[in-house]
Amino acid sequence: MQSEENFFTHQDTLAKLHENLPLTEKLRFLHQIIRQDFPFIDRLAIALFDEKTEMLKTYTHSTEGNDNPVTTYEAPLSAAPSLRAIIEHRRPRLVQDLNIFAKGTHEHTKRIAAKGYKSSYTMPLYQSGAFVGFLFFNSQQEHPFEAPALRQIDIYGHLIALMVINELTSIRTLLAAVRAARSMTHYRDLETGSHIDRTAHYARLIARQLAASYGISDEQIEHIFLFSPMHDVGKIGIPDNILRKPSKLDPAEFDVMKTHPVKGREIIDSVLEDFGLGAFCHNNILRNIAEFHHEAVDGSGYPNGLKGEEIPIEARISAVADVFDALTSRRSYKAPWSNEQAFAMLRQMSNSKLDRDCVEALINNGDKVLEIQQRFRDIDLI
Ligand code: C2E
Ligand code: SIN
Ligand code: SIN
Ligand code: FE
Ligand code: FE
Repeated sequence: MQSEENFFTHQDTLAKLHENLPLTEKLRFLHQIIRQDFPFIDRLAIALFDEKTEMLKTYTHSTEGNDNPVTTYEAPLSAAPSLRAIIEHRRPRLVQDLNIFAKGTHEHTKRIAAKGYKSSYTMPLYQSGAFVGFLFFNSQQEHPFEAPALRQIDIYGHLIALMVINELTSIRTLLAAVRAARSMTHYRDLETGSHIDRTAHYARLIARQLAASYGISDEQIEHIFLFSPMHDVGKIGIPDNILRKPSKLDPAEFDVMKTHPVKGREIIDSVLEDFGLGAFCHNNILRNIAEFHHEAVDGSGYPNGLKGEEIPIEARISAVADVFDALTSRRSYKAPWSNEQAFAMLRQMSNSKLDRDCVEALINNGDKVLEIQQRFRDIDLI
């Protein structure tokens, strides 16, 4: 008969998945587990599909270090016929020899082949029937995928799919809740939709430029993109006579205005609590952006007077995106500045208020800045 002390001798091999870890770490862990049975699987990668723009973008992968062939890569799905075919068939695709794609085909596959990957098994991911992205299993061997292996790989694939969907759902809930809080106040009249889009895109542009030198992952870039427009959510707690003042704020009014980062942080914390997302690990990017986007690298900012690298990188990035868009937009108290004037001001603020690398990343990409501005124009209401 089994004695009671023997009830707990087995350690669940996947127990680590119970922990509150970023998706990338869970994926790396699962890759190690999968490799125990299928050593030929050299890389797992996830690309997400953005319904609004029909773009496919890299999201995360299990390869450590810098040898990932397709970081910070984004392309229209229409430009990837071999991937589109997967969606049309609504089935996974097995390519036993990637050499057949060596000529022509799209950038994505070419980069995979150039890194020595010889074969791939690609599963489409669905959330409630809607296509959300791809999961790639890549191997450096030719013809390694046999039917019995695929049956088990499919199960791992669905486990990963559930993890991805859980992540996407948490982010969606979080954004919807913060937006709902904002839309219940007059503040929404001041912040246009195009401001939100531009801020998001400027922040992503900067994050992508810094990704290699600062070790910012695709997953973090995506969260900076999604969360940076929320930086001013705390303004919903600022009285209208200050928020809408058509002229310069006096010092007492500015003191009230300076409470918006902490108010923002508090709003986000209470939303997270109410929606049961308190432990969701990407919250820190959102919280940090709200609380620290007015900190200055020389310590002269608010609310905490943090200096240099004490300010999280996502907040330093958002600060530059925010100031640039504030300068080039109309405000009740100022006319819009030209890009040249705004770049000159950013340069002047660089190393005192703003992070130099973040400023350079934006200024050195004037053409991309123009593209963003043309894509997300403010419509002048008469
Ligand atoms: P905001 O309009 O989103 O501006 C964000 C940041 O962009 C500002 O942070 C500041 O660093 C920069 N910025 C915006 N406009 C100008 C400008 O004309 N010149 C310069 N040099 N920088 C500018 P800051 O100063 O901490 O202000 C935070 C928020 O306080 C602003 O957010 C805005 O809502 C409000 N605010 C600031 N100054 C005034 C003002 O004179 N009148 C009114 N009504 N509101 C103001
Ligand atoms: C990838 O593994 O990230 C892309 C491979 C493909 O395009 O088939
Ligand atoms: C948003 O909540 O979508 C953005 C609001 C803002 O500009 O702070
Ligand atoms: Fe602000
Ligand atoms: Fe702002």
